[in-house]
Amino acid sequence: MEGKDNLLTVTVRPDVVMTRGSGMFLWDSAGKKYLDFIGGWAVNCLGHSPQVLVDAIRDQAERLINASPSFYNDAMLKLAGKLAEISGLSRAFFVCSGSEANESAIKLSRKYGQKMKNGAFEIITNQGSFHGRTLATMSASGKAAFENLFEPKVPGFVKVPLNDVEMLKRSVSENTCAVMIESIQGEGGVNPVSQEYVNAAEKLAHENGLLLIFDEVQTGIGRTGTLFGFEHYGVVPDIVTLAKGLGGGFPVSAMLCREELNIFEPGDQGGTYSGQPLAMAAGLAVLEEIVKPGFLEHVVEMEKYIKGRLQKLESELNIENIRGKGLLLAFNLKSGDSKRVVDACLEKGLILNAPQPGAIRLMPALTVSREEIDMMFEILIPVISEFK
Ligand SMILES: Cc1ncc(COP(=O)(O)O)c(C=O)c1O
Repeated sequence: MEGKDNLLTVTVRPDVVMTRGSGMFLWDSAGKKYLDFIGGWAVNCLGHSPQVLVDAIRDQAERLINASPSFYNDAMLKLAGKLAEISGLSRAFFVCSGSEANESAIKLSRKYGQKMKNGAFEIITNQGSFHGRTLATMSASGKAAFENLFEPKVPGFVKVPLNDVEMLKRSVSENTCAVMIESIQGEGGVNPVSQEYVNAAEKLAHENGLLLIFDEVQTGIGRTGTLFGFEHYGVVPDIVTLAKGLGGGFPVSAMLCREELNIFEPGDQGGTYSGQPLAMAAGLAVLEEIVKPGFLEHVVEMEKYIKGRLQKLESELNIENIRGKGLLLAFNLKSGDSKRVVDACLEKGLILNAPQPGAIRLMPALTVSREEIDMMFEILIPVISEFK
């Protein structure tokens, strides 16, 4: 495979070269077709190469590929306006990846701590959380495998077990400036935060002047059946980060915040590709689709359909603990290594993910159809039965 030995090894990849995508399907260089239930890692919310995205990127490319972050561009203004309208958070800062959006949220929280809370800088996060791969976002993450990597870490993160309200309360000190939550821990294995934990975090934030940050990099943009994961909890955070689904496959991310948090001085934060026109056009095209009547209803219908089928299979197959919301779903094998199931499915042309040993995660395009879900089960059921 030409070029393979020129790539720095950062992950283990199968010897498959993807060359084309359409809707729920990918094709490799040998012409083999795959049914894709990871959707670019919860990214391709409209499927592969949807026409609206292709058209938006092409139209924008023909007009303006890049200006410079030192100028406004029309797509940037439109996307900021649209995000404010749908989220209730009036200010947006754009970057390219989820890690950068979270890095911005961390910086904004520290800025807030410096200006309003006597230099408070600590952010409370959760064990099992994943916030990214920059040094600060790795430090914020509660991923066990990160613990001894790239020491020394960025200080200032206190990690409490997910949904442990008592530990959350005990972790607040005069140094705390923010609490950061994933509404569903995606990489951690699809673990939803409890209503009780969110309520406690909101109350503590209110009483102690802390910022409530929702990392919606994976759960935002319709993934859980609502535009944002925080809507399930009846709260409006101070800061929300978005990425993945926002560009539908084009790299774009955003940090949204309340008006009062427009506190960076010019020069505090920025980036060459902040508000890059192609990325902005992609974001706008995705949002226009997601807010169409019936779009989110379809996500919820497909959630119910997948969960219903999994529940029926629970007694006859080796599976348990069906969980998640919208089209961010997972279940566990009662025994055995889910990575082997994922590998066997790939052989048969189905792409799934094992976020944790034992767990299988489904995160297809939000446009997935009932027929495509049936096709997925046709491959999955015999594979799981073999591993019983
Ligand atoms: C919740 C969450 N936050 C942050 C990130 C990091 O995003 P990126 O890989 O785009 O930097 C991810 C990626 O999986 C994520 O799931």
